[in-house]
Amino acid sequence: MPDYASLSQSIRSLTEGESDAVALMATIACEVHHSDDRFDWTGFYRVTEPELLKIGPYQGGHGCLVIPFSRGVCGAAARDGQAQIVADVEDFVGHIACASSTRSELVLPVFDHSGTVIAVFDIDSDQPGAFTTEDAEALSAILSETFARV
Ligand code: SME
Repeated sequence: MPDYASLSQSIRSLTEGESDAVALMATIACEVHHSDDRFDWTGFYRVTEPELLKIGPYQGGHGCLVIPFSRGVCGAAARDGQAQIVADVEDFVGHIACASSTRSELVLPVFDHSGTVIAVFDIDSDQPGAFTTEDAEALSAILSETFARV
């Protein structure tokens, strides 16, 4: 488990005064990815048109470029505006396998200051059951603090 207080503080310092969404996403993807060995792919999918996600800044192997809201764990998070913790990707109907090594996932919606979903933050792990509600809560708090200025 990362030291979320210190991760949050690093991201706060690095992004102070910045309100460009892609600059914020790139910084968060990098900082979060390197904070824990459980995180094998860490990145954002952006809402670029109604009901459509396109790849944003990420760390790890290549990610699929386009995900409709109707598909995958990322689509579910964007559609419902709710965190998705998937302990075993084989149990998630419609899971999109960008990497066959992925065993579990955490996907969080990203809201702007008005409460609109502008992206999702996806973390994939090669370990089964890698993510807890504590991860979801700590990372959601970082996202809401950071993207409140977008
Ligand atoms: N597995 C995700 C797709 C994104 S990649 O894993 C990077 C999903 O089902 O939404």
